[in-house]
Amino acid sequence: SKINLKDYQKPSFAVETVDLDIKLYEDHAQVASTLQMVRQSAGDLVLFGEDLALLAITMNGESLPSERYQHRAGKLTIADAPDDVTLEIQVRICPQTNTALEGLYMAGSGDDTMFVTQCEPEGFRKITFYPDRPDVLAVFTTRLEADKRYPTLLANGNLVEAGDVSGTPDRHYAIWHDPTNKPSYLFACVIADLDVLTDSYTTSEGREVTLELYAKSADIDKCDVGMQALKDAMRWDEVNYGRAYDLDRYMIVAVSQFNMGAMENKGLNIFNTACVLSSPETTTDARSFSVKSIIAHEYFHNWTGNRITCRDWFQLCLKEGLTVYRDQSFSADQQSSAVQRIDDVATLRAHQFAEDAGPLAHPVRPESFVEINNFYTTTVYEKGAEIVRMIANTLGPVNFRKGTDEYFRRYDGQAVTVEDFLSALSITDSKIEDFIDWYRQPGTPVVTGHQNYDSDTQTLTITLSQKTRHVAGFDAPKPLPIPVATALFDRNTGNIVAERMLLLDQETQAFVFENVTSEPVVSLLRDFSAPVQLNYAYQDADLAFLLEHETNGFNRWQVTQMLVNRILLQNKGEKSSPDIYLHALAQTLPVLAAEDAMLAARLLDIPSAQELASAIPQDYDPEAIKAQREGLYQQLALALKDEWAKLYKQLPIQAYQDSADARGRRALRNVVLDMAVTANVDGAAEWAQQQYDNASCMTERFGALKVMVNHQLAKADDYLADFYERFQDNDLVIDLWFSVQASADTVTPDAITALLTHKDFDWNTPNRVRSVVGAFSSQPTVLWTADGLDIYTGVIKKLDTANPVLASRLLQVLARWNTLTEPRRQMAHEQLLDLQKQVSSKNVLESLESVLGSA
Ligand code: ARG
Ligand code: ZN
Repeated sequence: SKINLKDYQKPSFAVETVDLDIKLYEDHAQVASTLQMVRQSAGDLVLFGEDLALLAITMNGESLPSERYQHRAGKLTIADAPDDVTLEIQVRICPQTNTALEGLYMAGSGDDTMFVTQCEPEGFRKITFYPDRPDVLAVFTTRLEADKRYPTLLANGNLVEAGDVSGTPDRHYAIWHDPTNKPSYLFACVIADLDVLTDSYTTSEGREVTLELYAKSADIDKCDVGMQALKDAMRWDEVNYGRAYDLDRYMIVAVSQFNMGAMENKGLNIFNTACVLSSPETTTDARSFSVKSIIAHEYFHNWTGNRITCRDWFQLCLKEGLTVYRDQSFSADQQSSAVQRIDDVATLRAHQFAEDAGPLAHPVRPESFVEINNFYTTTVYEKGAEIVRMIANTLGPVNFRKGTDEYFRRYDGQAVTVEDFLSALSITDSKIEDFIDWYRQPGTPVVTGHQNYDSDTQTLTITLSQKTRHVAGFDAPKPLPIPVATALFDRNTGNIVAERMLLLDQETQAFVFENVTSEPVVSLLRDFSAPVQLNYAYQDADLAFLLEHETNGFNRWQVTQMLVNRILLQNKGEKSSPDIYLHALAQTLPVLAAEDAMLAARLLDIPSAQELASAIPQDYDPEAIKAQREGLYQQLALALKDEWAKLYKQLPIQAYQDSADARGRRALRNVVLDMAVTANVDGAAEWAQQQYDNASCMTERFGALKVMVNHQLAKADDYLADFYERFQDNDLVIDLWFSVQASADTVTPDAITALLTHKDFDWNTPNRVRSVVGAFSSQPTVLWTADGLDIYTGVIKKLDTANPVLASRLLQVLARWNTLTEPRRQMAHEQLLDLQKQVSSKNVLESLESVLGSA
């Protein structure tokens, strides 16, 4: 059953307070709740509940007879409830068998068994009957009771009381009170045996906050990076948004079984271990960086998400787009902002553009859904962040800050909409309200343009047009406000002669620059000022010029990507020769390697096979793309063959350091190593072994292993065995061991099957499933075969009812089957139709219907 944005209605009852009592036993839990409710408008009192055994229900002290309420399809409805209601409800749940990882569930096994919650978006209804919707805000008091073998009892807010349960010497309890009004999706509790890293932070308002990071004892030495990131994020939010933390305690708990990255529960974040644990020996630099940004993301939600929350789940981007924009800005302040932007844009292009181009395209604010879990997408998150970025850039820092201050002032403590957000942001500029169409309209706009220079009048005219594809089921697309950051470069001096933000808000517009003394090279969409595809009438030589002269590091990368796209993707007749690209890189690389090794490493990027595929609307042949991509990579490796040995020697392994400079050198060294092996540089295979043997950290060790595995170097299997041996007790590193094999350029269906049946493979741990299945989907030539799809759809069948959220996400990877060449297309279609007959979760069925819909 579809839910529509236009049908939104206010809840007829508000909840003032909730008292929860959760008693955990060996094979089940008992949950008692007391809800104080008050009528706000006419209508039934509606509670949601799933997978609950109802034991007792009373209203205002009297047991509620079954004819007074209706319980069906996950809803408990009481007609004719009085205006003031106290409900007392008792249910029985079974966290021990909850494999969906929503609600209260058991994670880990043996001594590491723990119980945690994931309530966003609709998991709270799996804990007890409740008006489980984000516009119902209440004050929660939570009592937890469990066996003493779980000494750690945590819930939101402040600890009020703890002690032994009288009469049962093995059991203890704790009572937590959260003074903030919050929706049920922000509820959390943890029942476990964990160690804790403690620190403290004094806010700008003078509040002393205790910071606690909980993990199993073997992992507590990997919590320092996360703790430091938390303190950095707390300071950053005070400085940049004027937002200070509001409780006396901030807790983070690491759990190894988790569907997503992390969750911003009020005062009690729960994190996937992969997104919080970090140490140089076990975590790559890239991972460690994402740990910091996810810590910041969840912290920033305290204001953008928790204090101001969403009226309904259609508004998900209200908290996610804004919070992603905030975490990206935070990260840009922690490293080279150009590299941060490159990584964010690369992700957007590879995943969000693909989503927008295919059958799963939806607006940043969807208008209908069956299962909201299917909409935690890169469109909602990353495109949502791009809209906030466009608004911020249009307003400039001073007015953007005025706008966000107004947003917090007006809506603190409320559940609001995207329109509310825009109305606050537009107090200094009413044009900001026009950005609403970006939230409503699916599809990536394509901006085309050309320039005309008139030497008589010394004017340059840049003509830009926009077009967005018409996605079935939506209104015909309208022109959107598209900020195009532009600079003109003098061809002789290489200097910038003019800089302007062009606002393209019509279908076609001409922008005139006066007093331009000679025809310049135009750099457009600087810093990726809008999430669009740009087709500008450049000569390849102009792009090479910009690679040399752009002052904006992001744009230097962007022109390399444009050159690669021209070489690989243009229609046959118009294809560019690689010469200009290869020559330009040969010029740039040696200088840049010494100045900014991290950026130099990025300039050698060739988009992944999947990203290239996302730009191909039909007759996509995975073999051909792979061959072309590898061909260009080979050419690049050979063209700079003499550079690799020089560079590799300039980047010796040193004692581990956590500086931007050291990270840059490590990143470049790994790229250079792969290039050297590709180009058959003398001794390069030995460099890989030495790098592995002498590694000072995981970035070096894993980088070397990856090269050995991808190129099937003679000793690759020995090194894989050594890696397994060394790290067998560390699940997150064993995930790397699985993924390096599953994503290998030479992987086969049999190799995937072997990994899926390995003794350490575990269907109940999403990280492990993703380390094989997610990694495998990065090899389209294997995925899009009969055997590959058999394996892939088999995985979805297997997870369909056990973990529908995970199954549905994995399925979304198959969305582009319809662009394949025959006979692959037909074969994929049959496999998907076959899958449709064998699945039953609404998550998977909704995704499958969309994926098949385009046929
Ligand atoms: N709100 C979390 C975050 O963005 C994501 C949780 C999503 N969970 C889910 N089951 N869809 O940080
Ligand atoms: Zn978030």
